[in-house]
Amino acid sequence: MIISGSASISLASSLSSHSKIPLGKTTHQNFPDGEFMVQTNFQGDHGIIIAATRSASDHLELLQLQDAVREAGATNITTILPYMGYARQDTVFEPGQSLSARAMARSIGTGTDRVIIVNPHKNTVCDYFGVPAIALDASSILAQTLPTNLENPLFLAPDSGAISLAESVRDAYGMGDTDFFEKDRISSTEVHISPSTVDVAGRDVICVDDIISTGTTTSKSARILHDRGAKTIFVTCIHALLVEDARKMLSDSGVDAIYTTDTIVTPETKVSIAPLLAKLL
Ligand code: R5P
Repeated sequence: MIISGSASISLASSLSSHSKIPLGKTTHQNFPDGEFMVQTNFQGDHGIIIAATRSASDHLELLQLQDAVREAGATNITTILPYMGYARQDTVFEPGQSLSARAMARSIGTGTDRVIIVNPHKNTVCDYFGVPAIALDASSILAQTLPTNLENPLFLAPDSGAISLAESVRDAYGMGDTDFFEKDRISSTEVHISPSTVDVAGRDVICVDDIISTGTTTSKSARILHDRGAKTIFVTCIHALLVEDARKMLSDSGVDAIYTTDTIVTPETKVSIAPLLAKLL
């Protein structure tokens, strides 16, 4: 049986349809002090818990869902993280900092037998769970979100870490070039982009990244593309957090459209990762 966290309800439903595995129900009881408890109708041996952990509350809910499903008799639990929060702090940059990705992974790993995580910022996070964990690369399905009539398309990674994603989307689209810019992160809301010399004039350009959070990285890149005469600028990513005024920043910098998956459901969600996940169950 599949059990869903609050942030993954529609994806869990799609996964149930694709995998033919029944979807269970969860209720929440809230307490006056702000705490909450979950209750599920889980039955069976294999529990599949699917829960994006975008917020601290999502994370606490996941830990309780794992406990509830185990308590209800599951002998085998698979935890699917469509989006894993805190995964970008995957390095101790300064003495005394937490390695947040490891802390979150360790806690999740205690309540499950295996983990499937969709496009973590770095696949090395899989080493932290203490149980078998695999990263699912969903980038190829981003090609399905794009218009079918792109002209001389350029698939651009806004930083070197996203090159393989841009190549994957280009390969799945079936035509086009790839290129990348270099990024230096100054703070959580400031980056410096060093563009390549690629010619974008009159071309359809598709910026590809794993996550768009504040939109700073992509909007700075898009501004450069716009100033250099790109015909159309599309943005596609796996996880669209799009916090605060990210949409306005992207639009103001010349972005024509944003396309993303349902790891986090937004108005820009155009494709589901459910078929890819179903193949792993
Ligand atoms: C970082 O390297 C990631 O791949 C993304 O580029 C980053 O998370 C985007 O964040 P933001 O939208 O805040 O610039």
